Amino acid sequence: MTPASPQGAEESAPRVPYEDLVRFAADVFAARGVPTGRARTAAKALVYGDLAGMRSHGLTNLTRLYLPLFDDKRVEPDAEPEVLADKGASVLLDGKKGLGLWLASEAIDLAAERAAEYGIGLVSVRDATHFGCAGHHTLRAAERDMVGILASNCGGQRIARPPGGKVAMLGTNPMSIASPAGPDLPPYCLDMSTTAVPTGKIRQAARAGQPIPEGWLTDAQGQPVTDPHALDRGDGFPTWLGGRPETGAYKGYGLALLVEVLAALVPGAGLGPAPEAYEGSGGPSGRDDDIGILAIVVAPGALRPVEGFLSQAGGLFQSLLDCPPIDPAQPVSYPGAREAATAAEARSGGVPITPALHEELREVAERWGLEVPVGVDA
Ligand SMILES: NC(=O)c1ccc[n+]([C@@H]2O[C@H](COP(=O)([O-])OP(=O)(O)OC[C@H]3O[C@@H](n4cnc5c(N)ncnc54)[C@H](O)[C@@H]3O)[C@@H](O)[C@H]2O)c1
Repeated sequence: MTPASPQGAEESAPRVPYEDLVRFAADVFAARGVPTGRARTAAKALVYGDLAGMRSHGLTNLTRLYLPLFDDKRVEPDAEPEVLADKGASVLLDGKKGLGLWLASEAIDLAAERAAEYGIGLVSVRDATHFGCAGHHTLRAAERDMVGILASNCGGQRIARPPGGKVAMLGTNPMSIASPAGPDLPPYCLDMSTTAVPTGKIRQAARAGQPIPEGWLTDAQGQPVTDPHALDRGDGFPTWLGGRPETGAYKGYGLALLVEVLAALVPGAGLGPAPEAYEGSGGPSGRDDDIGILAIVVAPGALRPVEGFLSQAGGLFQSLLDCPPIDPAQPVSYPGAREAATAAEARSGGVPITPALHEELREVAERWGLEVPVGVDA
């Protein structure tokens, strides 16, 4: 059997208009009590996963992650975040369990407003919930000709072990940085988990009945695991970006700790590493509640003429694209370019939605008395 491909084999799936998917997701959130404007912001963040080809964090998470969060009252649909400290360039918010898909966009937007004034803005959030794809939110800063950085820890969820450790202590701690790449190129947008892959990709393979490549999970003894079901059985542990200790695992682990410090320790959110981690067998423990979010925006235009910054950025990223490739069939790219191309194609021709996902959306529509979005050719 072929190991699961990183993006999944869903390119030939039926296509659904992007706007219809956003409207549908917004209607679902609104039906769960999320105020209308906020529901639309959250819907765009969710559908971005499908739009940009990061499907492990798209609409598939509606039934698996977000609707159960509402059912279990782990998210407050109409939470009003509280400003706990405001120093001008930096703000501390209590997210009050607000929907992370919305809250992270709000945090980046507020950081961008402060950056316009001070050159830099930092918004630090405690008690947040899952924000989906980090890159969707940082791209909002790039749209303003600014550089956006976003990270979140996973609250008290512990599924990944420190290199050499026997106890799961951290989550997949995602981070993103986005910047304009000049006037003519799509933005640079690094968007990633600090583990080799996010759990969503492992679960995608499990649903597809496919083994995963060596390097995504290890067993309790640190040996590679190719059975994706090991993750939810609790006997498979995500590996760090970099792989094994001798190939660079300490770098991914170190980045995950950077996220833990800046996104969670700074605002006072839930932490993965804590004494409770030692109470069980060493397997997964805790929940991804009280998540911490870090949003930093840098505004080069507040420090020097923005035209100079943009033209130099264009030179930087064009130089990378012009790098002679080893294989002429595989031109050199940069993070964000592939997602931008996928998104542009899906905006015009429709977003690929597999029959299985469409069936899930149909069931959601039925439950909430909504119309399910239909395919482009229907
Ligand atoms: N909210 C959460 O708790 C959480 C946790 C983990 C991951 N995530 C999200 O899951 C999504 C997927 O994460 P991932 O780690 O699987 O990402 P990935 O491995 O698909 O991509 C990582 C980065 O590599 C870049 N890249 C990949 N192939 C490239 C190529 N050929 N040329 C140039 N650049 C290339 C991508 O643009 C991206 O910036 C992200 O949106 C991430 O934010 C969220």
